[in-house]
Amino acid sequence: MSTTKLELHGLSKTYSSKGAAAKVIENVTLTASEGEFVSIIGPSGCGKSTLFHIIGGITEPTAGKVMLDGKEITGSKGLISYMPQQPALFPWRTILDNVIMGQELAGSPKKEAREAAREWLAKAGLQGYEKAYPHMLSGGMQQRAAFIRALLSPREVMCLDEPFGALDALTRQDMQSWLLDIWENNKRTVLFITHSIEEALFLSDKIVLLSRKPTHVLKELVVPLPRPRQEEVVNDPVFLELKQHIYGLMKQEQRHN
Ligand SMILES: Nc1ncnc2c1ncn2[C@@H]1O[C@H](COP(=O)(O)OP(=O)(O)OP(=O)(O)O)[C@@H](O)[C@H]1O
Ligand SMILES: [Mg+2]
Repeated sequence: MSTTKLELHGLSKTYSSKGAAAKVIENVTLTASEGEFVSIIGPSGCGKSTLFHIIGGITEPTAGKVMLDGKEITGSKGLISYMPQQPALFPWRTILDNVIMGQELAGSPKKEAREAAREWLAKAGLQGYEKAYPHMLSGGMQQRAAFIRALLSPREVMCLDEPFGALDALTRQDMQSWLLDIWENNKRTVLFITHSIEEALFLSDKIVLLSRKPTHVLKELVVPLPRPRQEEVVNDPVFLELKQHIYGLMKQEQRHN
């Protein structure tokens, strides 16, 4: 599979309502290279989801550009695979029909889409739920289904907004290892929002730390841990050192509040 580069250039966003202006994003520039796994960490409410809405063309930036493979795509919808923070499954569609939506929109043959979807649902522990409706699944199961939908959407860049936030610790660990395995065998460009420093270190090539609102890039850190990564990597001295370093930086940022 070919991969694609995503660039954000000087993005800013100010929301205005009833004459009051709220600056949320201030001059964010960052790049996810072809096949790179980039995590974004930042204080709650700093503007991470807003950043993804801008990338997805749902929200217009006040300034700046979004570039995909060197072409400007600011304001264009449907070019990236996006998993929103709240798993937005359509309640009137079965799990299987929810999962194949990205493929459907791209015009893939339905039979093949369904076959692939069944396979992936089984790998995510959702076998037997193909014909169920979203309300019959737990929050974590819905999140897994939404994740599979993003994964199967035939787009080169995936933007995942805290995809494992609603999962218990063990399932979350399983899903991380599972995602890592898929990604290492099938490199796609990924932007991944998380509040977990460990999750970011385990998965990423690069971690972007964002400031509090109005958010800007505080620091970019390369994660020099070799791949493929195993769960034991969390005990690696490099992992532990980076973890302490990031905790320190984010604590400092919080203290400024
Ligand atoms: N449509 C909107 N109109 C006005 N303000 C908004 C809108 N959407 C988001 N905001 C504000 O922008 C700020 C950033 O919100 P956003 O959801 O991007 O934060 P976040 O970093 O994703 O937070 P979290 O980590 O809690 O998910 C918040 O103060 C929020 O109130
Ligand atoms: Mg958010």
